[in-house]
Amino acid sequence: MNDPFELFSRYLRQRQELGEAPWVFDTPAPGETVAAASRSRTPSRPDPAGAHNAGGDAGGEPGSRLPAAEPATTSQSRAPSPRGETDAGEARPKKVDWRRGAPPIPPQGIVVPPPAEDLFTADPLADKTLEEIAALVRECTRCRLCKQRTNAVPGEGPPDARLVVIGEGPGAVEDETGRPFVGRAGELLTEILAAIDLPRERVFICNIVKCRPPENRKPQPDEIEACVPYLYRQLEIIRPAVILAMGGTAAETLLNTRQPLAGLRNRVHQFRGIPVIVTYHPAALLRNPNWKKPTWDDVRIARQLLDARG
Ligand code: URA
Ligand code: SF4
Repeated sequence: MNDPFELFSRYLRQRQELGEAPWVFDTPAPGETVAAASRSRTPSRPDPAGAHNAGGDAGGEPGSRLPAAEPATTSQSRAPSPRGETDAGEARPKKVDWRRGAPPIPPQGIVVPPPAEDLFTADPLADKTLEEIAALVRECTRCRLCKQRTNAVPGEGPPDARLVVIGEGPGAVEDETGRPFVGRAGELLTEILAAIDLPRERVFICNIVKCRPPENRKPQPDEIEACVPYLYRQLEIIRPAVILAMGGTAAETLLNTRQPLAGLRNRVHQFRGIPVIVTYHPAALLRNPNWKKPTWDDVRIARQLLDARG
């Protein structure tokens, strides 16, 4: 079930089941521009995060008020809304301004220094490029996860990406396609990134382990240990301004800790000199929508760090 519109309506239904007022989309009057319609209307629903977000709709999370398209300036040029309506008088969600109500940058957390130079054992990946790493991953048999994979999933994105997103490991659709985050969780991730004005194409997206664990079980410690050198070399090549670690496996591995995820949020950690923000995994958000708001806050912290780092 990969239809984003269906996903979106399901998410809205879930929110309503959780007691939220139904969402009402601004509908421009005939001849009125969308921008003018947005300005002239009062917020169309009670804002549950009102105290935190003076702007009324400022705390709107991706997936609740889908910021799928840039604001259109005329009713003619409007993009289809998530509900698929395209006729005159249709409804469409407003673009979320991620800056409004964003939390401040939190204090420093765990610092993982670069490894001490080892004069005796050369790192076999040290001179490899991103393409070479991907080729090695596709052929890799370093752990048992190679046995059941259809495709290894090295990760994808531009080599000069300023943000690297790290998940746990490929799921079924990723295993089929060889691409990271392309199933349901991936659709949500794409939406979250768009909401902080980062098109997915500008982000490097990858995982802790590059092959799918059977039945999507958690990767085991020896599998992680066998696989992370690929990730660490990818990070060394890309040297992003910020890393977003999504979920416990990514956070624990990068930061070398067993602390639960909740305690790792709201800190700027460092992995070998690169700031790390920890947040929930998008698959967890699909199961528990209560984590959407904290995740929205976390990614906005990551986004501010990107800005702060020029
Ligand atoms: N979950 C992950 O952690 N990674 C993916 O690539 C897809 C789902
Ligand atoms: Fe190799 Fe990583 Fe796949 Fe294991 S999970 S076989 S270490 S690429």
